[in-house]
Amino acid sequence: MTALIYNIGMLATPEGRAARRGKEQGEIRVMKNAWILIRDGMIAELGEGLAPAGVCDETVDAGGRLVTPGLVDAHTHLIFAGWRQNELGMKLHGMGYLDILAAGGGILSTVRATRAASEEELFEKAKAALAEMMRLGVTACEAKSGYGLDRETELKQLKVIRRLQEETPMDLAATYLGAHALPTEYKENREEYIRLMTEEWIPEIAEKGLAEFCDVFCEKDVFTAEESRRILEAGNRAGLRAKIHADEIEAIGGTELTPDVNAISAEHLIKATPSGIAALAKGGTIACLLPSTSFYLGATYAPARAMIEAGVPVAIASDFNPGSCPSLNLQLAMNLGCLKYRLTPEEMLTAVTVNGAAAMGRAEKIGSLEAGKQADLVIWEAEDLDFLAYRLGSNLVRTVIKKGQIIA
Ligand code: NIG
Ligand code: FE
Repeated sequence: MTALIYNIGMLATPEGRAARRGKEQGEIRVMKNAWILIRDGMIAELGEGLAPAGVCDETVDAGGRLVTPGLVDAHTHLIFAGWRQNELGMKLHGMGYLDILAAGGGILSTVRATRAASEEELFEKAKAALAEMMRLGVTACEAKSGYGLDRETELKQLKVIRRLQEETPMDLAATYLGAHALPTEYKENREEYIRLMTEEWIPEIAEKGLAEFCDVFCEKDVFTAEESRRILEAGNRAGLRAKIHADEIEAIGGTELTPDVNAISAEHLIKATPSGIAALAKGGTIACLLPSTSFYLGATYAPARAMIEAGVPVAIASDFNPGSCPSLNLQLAMNLGCLKYRLTPEEMLTAVTVNGAAAMGRAEKIGSLEAGKQADLVIWEAEDLDFLAYRLGSNLVRTVIKKGQIIA
């Protein structure tokens, strides 16, 4: 099965099979009047000028438009039941994110809904969200558990992720986030909850192959840096690579932990300090930044420029979840990445493609348009990359191609 995409006005892509940092983050390959030859879902060849002659099973005229790699959303809380529109009024009356959580709302209210939902309900809801993400140009995403906080519901969430991988075109990576909040039933016994996660559930999840990553919400009133260390070390022992929600609301030392636990990525980092940034650079950890969450929480924005200058690879993701960011539109996050982090369009493209892929452990296979990688790409209703970064609030996707097939 061969396909040729031709008449590409501008092809813009980062290159390589690892996260790009520092000056490299902004160095992308740009080709004019380009073509891509796809064989069996993989990129066989690409070039400028005259497309190769010969018969292809399918040809797609890009009409002189911009083509980029499919977007990679490396941080989502995709699997949950219900929504939390009732919290908007609370926020407008001045309650903070952690106040709502302390009052038994927030994450804990989604936990109640997710425990009550069947696997089928969770699957159907997440499948609809994935369809919307694909229409918005996303071809791979990470998905976290963390709205069960008990063995059965966390397993249920992770099984839904596995089924989505099997039954939808999206590439998914599963993350166990049992340490998303302390469940109400362990309020007086947090040690026992941590023991269950570290000694029983993490080994079981790894054994069953239900997750690749282990994540912790390291935050004031949630899990401390020392607790996070113990949980992520247990993940490492079981073969689950560490991720960490750190410095989202307050900096309590989670980012400083990343070299010790060999974290693949640290997420949010809104309040990251110079010592946190130095730790990320030391460990080669990817900063996975979530600007739509800053926007939604009315918070400040992570110091992305300082990270790039310190040689930390920056990824940008949606953080799609029912509380702090009910948006799965990565195009919005890309606009905010330019306007609020002051990333150039080139740095931003790298952040939502190869660096996101690297944060999912998938940079060998996806995240750039190069021979030998999967043919995941977007034809945009845009003539160049600047236009994509500049327009706000419209879905600029024209066509989404996943493993050589048109999916949206
Ligand atoms: O990334 N910070 C923790 N987790 C999510 C929010 C989850 C929720 O509010 O339901 C986040 O912001
Ligand atoms: Fe998150």
